[in-house]
Amino acid sequence: MSEEFARVDPDDQSTNPSANEAFQQVLERRMSRRGVLRGGTVAAAVGFIGAAGGGTAAAAVAGPHPTKGPGGRGRSLLGFKAVAASSADTVSVPPGYTTEVLVPWGTPIDSRGPKWKKDASNTAAEQEQQIGMHHDGMHLFPLRSGGRGRSGRDGGLLAINHEYTDTTLLYRDGDATLTPEKVNKALAAHGVSVVRVARQGARWRMVDSKYNRRITGNTPMAFSGPLKADHPALAAEGRARGTLNNCSSGYTPWGTYITCEENFNGYFGTEDPSWRPSAEEARYGISAAGFGYRWHTVDPRFDVAAGPEEANRFGWVVEIDPSSPRGTPVKRTALGRFKHEGATVTESRGRVVVYSGDDQDGEYVYKFVGDHGWRRLRARGKSPLDHGTLYVARFDDDGTGTWLPLKFGTGPLTAANGWKDQADVVLRTRTAADAVGATKLDRPEWVAVHPTDRDVYLTLTNGGGNGGKVNPRTPNPYGHIVRWREKNRDNTALTFEWDIFALAGDPAYDPRVTHGPDAVFGSPDGLGFDKAGRLWIQTDISNSSQNLAGKGYDNIGNNALLAADPRTGEIRRFLVGPRGAEVTGFTLAPDQRTLFVNIQHPGEATAAWGSPTPQNPRAVSNWPEFDPAGRPRPATVVIRRKDGGIIGT
Ligand code: FEO
Ligand code: CA
Ligand code: CA
Repeated sequence: MSEEFARVDPDDQSTNPSANEAFQQVLERRMSRRGVLRGGTVAAAVGFIGAAGGGTAAAAVAGPHPTKGPGGRGRSLLGFKAVAASSADTVSVPPGYTTEVLVPWGTPIDSRGPKWKKDASNTAAEQEQQIGMHHDGMHLFPLRSGGRGRSGRDGGLLAINHEYTDTTLLYRDGDATLTPEKVNKALAAHGVSVVRVARQGARWRMVDSKYNRRITGNTPMAFSGPLKADHPALAAEGRARGTLNNCSSGYTPWGTYITCEENFNGYFGTEDPSWRPSAEEARYGISAAGFGYRWHTVDPRFDVAAGPEEANRFGWVVEIDPSSPRGTPVKRTALGRFKHEGATVTESRGRVVVYSGDDQDGEYVYKFVGDHGWRRLRARGKSPLDHGTLYVARFDDDGTGTWLPLKFGTGPLTAANGWKDQADVVLRTRTAADAVGATKLDRPEWVAVHPTDRDVYLTLTNGGGNGGKVNPRTPNPYGHIVRWREKNRDNTALTFEWDIFALAGDPAYDPRVTHGPDAVFGSPDGLGFDKAGRLWIQTDISNSSQNLAGKGYDNIGNNALLAADPRTGEIRRFLVGPRGAEVTGFTLAPDQRTLFVNIQHPGEATAAWGSPTPQNPRAVSNWPEFDPAGRPRPATVVIRRKDGGIIGT
């Protein structure tokens, strides 16, 4: 989720009950003592892959060339000219590449559907038939004409998350007043879009299809796993509806999309002065004010004073079958309840392994390991996401790590300690992870698994100071990327070795950062590998910091997409987004010749350029249409090479 400038960012506030300081306080102190940091010493650059004999190395901050693996002396994986850092209101890509805007917010998902109105006067009912707002994680499911295929030549089904809404830009008159219709429009702009996309020559377009579908904050939902729909903890008014704050996503080997509910807590609130959060509500950051959406003032569903049950229906990973347009999405509770940034699925020994970060300062990274081979489970009519064990990571300072089970009856999670059953464990995942001794991290975001060596990479976007060698900078305004190798390269293993792949930031402000101008970046967030093993890194610098010298971000420019060669550590900027936007969401066509990237929240309020208003929604950005009477629109950007070649080479 974007870190909004106009109010305190809840992601930067720990709700983990230990004495972390608020990020801004620490950041300001850090900036004022910059000279002290300049004189600091730097740990030796040794990564676990570079360690002699592949043995355990002391965890260290990697230098410019942290790893020289066996393949490290080959040709660089990065074959494009770096794009310069920029604060322009445009999307910049390397020479020889083209960009095309696809499915911006408000596009009708059927050509006969309601047209987008540039004054934001579309109704809630119309928004339900249009592409949602604030595109985030996505995946292209290849589809041949009339059926699924492997080539992707005919395109496929593009599933796109819509994380949240910008309430100034969503409504013609802004959000100073709120009505049930406005809340319904916001609910309709959240969720997921599934749309058929097809390529004709070099151009991609959305086409009418029986698969085109919107899933919103009002769509009926099913529950499966340890916490089922009839559990008293979920017994709110009416049947469970909706998915909210759909941040990143994943996809399964059996062809389904999994969308992740991140900052669900902020939608809830109350005007009841007698309401106090329970320990669990406080642990998830539920408060009377919420994030300022005020939905509870017009829709009792979001009033937490009525009880915790409606909020308990959120914070899950949700499985959607894009090939079943009438299917009910299923909240897979075995994967735990937290602010799921994403859910990256891989496979080892026939079992599914799902990695998921909990994006808040001082939270954890988790993995779910299937109990049995996924094919066997599916052959018996069971979901591989319902049968397995959830683990949380402990990172030790000697460069090793352990996956700790969150299993009722194991370790401290016993009846004697007040745990009822596995449903209780998954409902209170954060508290269970606290109890087993997980390691606090600087805001875990996306996870990516290397396609051949199986190493796992995790973005830690920034943090106030969680300590330990895995969080090597205090405070950490720029973030870093941590990497681990599971024992025997088996992703189901319960121990691993880790190092820090890249420390983000600008050497002008932190001498430990060694990237040149082609690679300076901050707040890594989105992450993905292509088939050749290029690591693609997307950034989400807060709009309170972006482009500002006083925040150490003046040389970094707008948010960007960069590519890294994991064998050498080289990083190169590939794309720069427009003003106020985050670059997020990453999927490639199977032939690797089309890259889809999302531009989220262009034109959002920024410290550098000001704030949009109902009178001037274009104050910060007017991307992508630059219509003098229009407004900025989040959208998917399709990137191709003019010669039709493979992206990144
Ligand atoms: Fe939705 Fe942590 O970004
Ligand atoms: Ca982020
Ligand atoms: Ca994110």
